[in-house]
Amino acid sequence: KILILDFGSQYTQLIARRVRELNVYCEIHPYNKVPEIDELTKGVILSGSPSSVRMEGAPQIDFKQFHGKLPLLGVCYGAQYIAQHSGGNVAPSEIREYGRANLEYIHTNNPLMKELPTRSQVWMSHGDTIKDIPADFEIIASTDSVKVAAFQIKNSQTYGIQFHLEVTHSTDGKQLLQNFLIDICGCVQDWTPFAFAEESIDALKEQLKDDKVVLGLSGGVDSSVAALLLHQAVGKNLHCIFVDNGLLRKDEFASVLSSYKDLGLNVKGVDAKQRFYDALAGLSDPELKRKAIGRVFIEVFDDEAHQISDVKWLAQGTIYPDVIESVSVNGGPSATIKSHHNVGGLPDYMKLKIVEPLKSLFKDEVRRVGKALGLPDDILGRHPFPGPGLAIRILGDVTPEKVDILQQADYIYVKNLKDSGWYDKVWQAGAIYLPIQSVGVMGDERTYENVVALRAVSSVDGMTADWSHLPYDLLAKISNEIINNIKGINRVVYDISSKPPATIEWE
Ligand code: XMP
Repeated sequence: KILILDFGSQYTQLIARRVRELNVYCEIHPYNKVPEIDELTKGVILSGSPSSVRMEGAPQIDFKQFHGKLPLLGVCYGAQYIAQHSGGNVAPSEIREYGRANLEYIHTNNPLMKELPTRSQVWMSHGDTIKDIPADFEIIASTDSVKVAAFQIKNSQTYGIQFHLEVTHSTDGKQLLQNFLIDICGCVQDWTPFAFAEESIDALKEQLKDDKVVLGLSGGVDSSVAALLLHQAVGKNLHCIFVDNGLLRKDEFASVLSSYKDLGLNVKGVDAKQRFYDALAGLSDPELKRKAIGRVFIEVFDDEAHQISDVKWLAQGTIYPDVIESVSVNGGPSATIKSHHNVGGLPDYMKLKIVEPLKSLFKDEVRRVGKALGLPDDILGRHPFPGPGLAIRILGDVTPEKVDILQQADYIYVKNLKDSGWYDKVWQAGAIYLPIQSVGVMGDERTYENVVALRAVSSVDGMTADWSHLPYDLLAKISNEIINNIKGINRVVYDISSKPPATIEWE
């Protein structure tokens, strides 16, 4: 295992993903909460940071606790920190060291630099630079403007690099990371989806024994993969509940439910459409709608869970990004834990213990594990879909009639995206029902009907997003099909806003 100590860089999670892509397990911990180093820890990586090592209040760490004992790699701030605290000098760089650069000099006999091609492209992003290095430092790579692009402390396994090996613009970053992980740390590349599945099924068996577990399925990837793992561990003792809130995509409840049954899951489909529609009646404020849906979900789930006797555990599909403690360096050394489960909290009196089998996985790893466990492609490759479903894609108040119209429009949209190969190219797509009417003409008739907006975005994690440049021909075809087939819609528009300043959903 590799320990990554986070100084608050936006790239820390990316380092972890790159390590995992090389099938090596790693964990991110805040720099000020170093966990105990056990014999499984093979090396340490110090991340970048928005801070400067010269600033008062900059994150501090005793790196000597690792230096000479474990292989250590400092990236950007991490490298500057090692240099500064070994007697070197870090100063503001005269020219901005930002963007692409090439390693003009590479010490190819150095283990970290092994097999890096000359002029290898790297990505720089720092306002400080290492000006002077102590005598026991050796420069192992330089660019035209950054002499100390990479260094090693002689006769030790401590390295620093000032560029970001984790971003794809550093074209040989993977090779460099592999050199560090495999050759220098001696890690074994055994962190694979199959190994993870096997180990976690064993661990779940041990943890849960003959206890009953209840899990809310949503049709999304995370809860589905969590269910498959638990199913393999406890079989029929896993009770899955899949609630039809009447706000899912057209036909989705029935088709996903039958996929779950095909997978052998012990799943109960609960038709609660009317309870949700009743709770939503007359509500048009987005947050009130969200609250109502959350509340009814818990009521329905609670009712169902109570029908299963003697349940001990509640399983959740929480994934790693939800549990990493984020370091906010510039706002003080406070650590906040992000947490956003669709399921929310259950009433206290249920007193269930929580089991979260995916909490060490990134999203792409969840998919790989799902694939290894035989989850069908239509669930694996599904776009993210918000918990409140179509209710936040119907602006204003929600009625079953509007849901029906939007489901039809969304169906035509998604079907065309799939048929044209665009579904897998966009991160998320959906149709939005607007509460405004406009004039149109159909045949000789004047119409006065509603507008549907189409949204498609590219994104990595939903935090920022670009609108997708769908081909005009495709948009034209979708627009025609929607207007010609759906009574109540006479106009279709395409959303060309990016996030920020817009958001992905309209509510
Ligand atoms: P926004 O609209 O904030 O959406 O740009 C970012 C991502 O979050 C999803 N989203 C939600 N997911 N409950 C959810 O489970 C919600 O209330 C909710 N609101 C937005 C959205 O679909 C996108 O993937």
